[in-house]
Amino acid sequence: MLLSGVLFGLFLGLASGEDGSAAWLRYAPLPHDSSHSSLPSSIITLNSTRGSPVYTAQQELRRGIQGIFGKTLNNGTSSNQHGAIIVGTAQAYQKSYGEFDDAKELEEDGYFLSSESNQVLIIGQNERGALYGSFDYLSRLAQGKLGAVSYVSNPHASIRWTNEWDNMDGSIERGYAGPSIFFENGFVTDNVTRVAEYARLLASIRINGMIVNNVNANATLLSPRNINGLGRLADAMRPYGVQLGISLNFASPQTFGGLSTFDPLDPAVDAWWANITNQIYARVPDMAGYLVKANSEGQPGPLTYNRTLAEGANMFARAAKPHGGIVMFRAFVYDNHINESNWKADRANAAVEFFQDLDGKFDDNVVVQIKYGPIDFQVREPVSPLFSTLRNTSTAIELQVTQEYLGQQTHLVYLAPLWKEILEFDMKADNRSSKVKDIISGERFRRPLGGSAGVVNVGTNTTWLGSHLSMSNLYAYGLLAWDPALGAEELLQDWIRLTFGHDKKVIETVTEMSMKSWPAYENYTGNLGIQTLTDILYTHFGPNPATMDNNGWGQWTRADKFSIGMDRTVKNGTGNAGQYPSEVAKVYESIETTPDNLLLWFHHVNYTHRLKSGKTVIQHFYDSHYEGAATAQDLVEQWNSLEGRIDVERFEHVLFRQKYQAGHALVWRDSINQFYYNLSEIKDEAGRVGNHPYRIEAEKMTLDGYRSYSVNPFHTASGAKAIVTTSNTTEGTATTKVTFESGRYDIAVNYYDLIGGKAQYELHINNKTIGSWKGDLEDKLGHAPSVYLDGHSATRITFRNITVGKGDVLKISGRPDGVEPAPIDYVSFLPPGVVD
Ligand code: GCU
Repeated sequence: MLLSGVLFGLFLGLASGEDGSAAWLRYAPLPHDSSHSSLPSSIITLNSTRGSPVYTAQQELRRGIQGIFGKTLNNGTSSNQHGAIIVGTAQAYQKSYGEFDDAKELEEDGYFLSSESNQVLIIGQNERGALYGSFDYLSRLAQGKLGAVSYVSNPHASIRWTNEWDNMDGSIERGYAGPSIFFENGFVTDNVTRVAEYARLLASIRINGMIVNNVNANATLLSPRNINGLGRLADAMRPYGVQLGISLNFASPQTFGGLSTFDPLDPAVDAWWANITNQIYARVPDMAGYLVKANSEGQPGPLTYNRTLAEGANMFARAAKPHGGIVMFRAFVYDNHINESNWKADRANAAVEFFQDLDGKFDDNVVVQIKYGPIDFQVREPVSPLFSTLRNTSTAIELQVTQEYLGQQTHLVYLAPLWKEILEFDMKADNRSSKVKDIISGERFRRPLGGSAGVVNVGTNTTWLGSHLSMSNLYAYGLLAWDPALGAEELLQDWIRLTFGHDKKVIETVTEMSMKSWPAYENYTGNLGIQTLTDILYTHFGPNPATMDNNGWGQWTRADKFSIGMDRTVKNGTGNAGQYPSEVAKVYESIETTPDNLLLWFHHVNYTHRLKSGKTVIQHFYDSHYEGAATAQDLVEQWNSLEGRIDVERFEHVLFRQKYQAGHALVWRDSINQFYYNLSEIKDEAGRVGNHPYRIEAEKMTLDGYRSYSVNPFHTASGAKAIVTTSNTTEGTATTKVTFESGRYDIAVNYYDLIGGKAQYELHINNKTIGSWKGDLEDKLGHAPSVYLDGHSATRITFRNITVGKGDVLKISGRPDGVEPAPIDYVSFLPPGVVD
């Protein structure tokens, strides 16, 4: 099978392997070169200063056309435009060639692209615009869209940034693709090659700014050595028109500068910030600005001195203003010690409560950066009500490309459909159309600034994000920030063509897989608006609904034996529904009008409450967890059907992750269902929950060198128990007689893969080895690891199509390693078509 796949691949002209570093900028040859003759043959560059974005555009056009068509562009002369690509700014163009009509339509960073047979014009409002136009033209060529075009493209908003949560020691908060490309050992890295490559990728999706360090900022970034390092980063990014920005720690004047205070109204503090800002701008004259997380999750801020958040933000704004810098001030401010016994307490209310009285009090160069929902990047949240509260303050939306709560790049979750729902949501402020996308652009409330910040967290892994398929999210993020009217599927298909080529089956299959991935993930991790039911106190990865409650973090579900959900009504609850403009508030206030997918966000109901679908809440939970996990199994088959149509390296990489997701989706399904079944004691009408006729529990096998172990949380083990070796040095075995009828089975082993050891396993039937494997997923996947047997470490390996006789002896041996005691949960014997 593999051999035929390889041959088929060669036939299609596939490269033998791709590591993902080229992402969507592969410039792979088109399958046919019919248009070759009508291509331009030369290039006229209206700025030949090395390092300028127009110079970069010229280089990129040469590289792209060489890759796609194998054609080398000549240097054109401005007197001979025939057969040439002309690239430059509108101003430069007019200087050489006189007026051109479309110039008037160009807005900052915008561009005009016209390509007619072999005559191509790429004219930017500024240098950056010319580069964007060049990337757009190349993207069209690479996708085989070779027809004539002529249009102006302008950005929807001026701020199109990424946020990178990189720490000075080289680790990345919520990053799943290896260490930082910006920092190591406390300093800015010397080698900026990858930084330039990343800036190139970002420019191609029209991102114009990048905050390079974690919002939980370390003041040592402000040391002279690091300021110089920031200069190095900015120099690497500048040719791509990506401006550098940094996150600041509010307490820096005291902790780093040696002042006795960091009070924003203290003149010495003000002077300290002005001075450090001058130093940074001396090295990075085009720095975009600052990002500030203050009085949030233990970070220092102005509230320490009874100053308002606006007073805090304006301090930075004053320092940045003379340099043209802006300050992104995060609205993610909340108290993480609130009291769950108070039914009026609600973290979702925090942002509006903290910011509503400050509207209009921020300086002009401050933008309040608001996470899309009121809590924290959950699989489903309503839009943050703050977007409609702030009318005299510029705002930006914060989205997360890194999949912190959404499978950490080991689960396929295409996010553009989620973002589109948020961006297109109409808040109906003053009963007028008030879509989020028009609020953040500044248009709806007539604000001068606005836009998007996407938390990306790329790492040194060649795939950038840790998985090839998750790159569709970065691609879509940038282009939606430019034009939120673009369709999620349209963006996806462009990305697929650029990433995997033109094979129709590949395009259709990856489209289908991606488009169903968010609904599937929502189905098996947290539906009806209950949030992602992950372990919020530990990894944010696997299931652990109990961690949501009984603590001050305020991500409560308020689940008890009979009922579940947050009552956020004005009538009885926290009043959160009332933070929305009246038309929207009315919808959320009533159970009848609240959409099912947000029911438990806004209402506390019995498990037996009937949804609009007619199902009870609990049955919906059970069913959707089964449905979602089933979809995750299908993704493996779908991807498998592409063997030979994608280079082996990327095919295998994705296949490995899809198999992992399929296994982990079952962990999620069983864990969440078991948790709520245990709590409510309401049976699954379909009789599936807690009933697994194809399983053999490891703890029920004959154990030698293994012992039974009660797993915590209990619902992350089948039957609440697993087995672990009795010592951390000697092998254990678990043996049993097969009682299933003779036949062919897929044999699945659920085990736990912890960090801190690489246990070895073997599976035998009648002394014949069926398979062996290692607990080494920590080397292969980037998700946050766990040192426990739990929902994060629980995983599955499957051996297909094994002939088994009734009465055969099944034996698993496990050799512990380090702290990993070769833990096993259960073994499933799955007849054809059964998944359990
Ligand atoms: C989440 C995330 C943190 C992050 C924080 C933030 O809570 O888990 O790692 O620091 O958001 O956005 O500031």
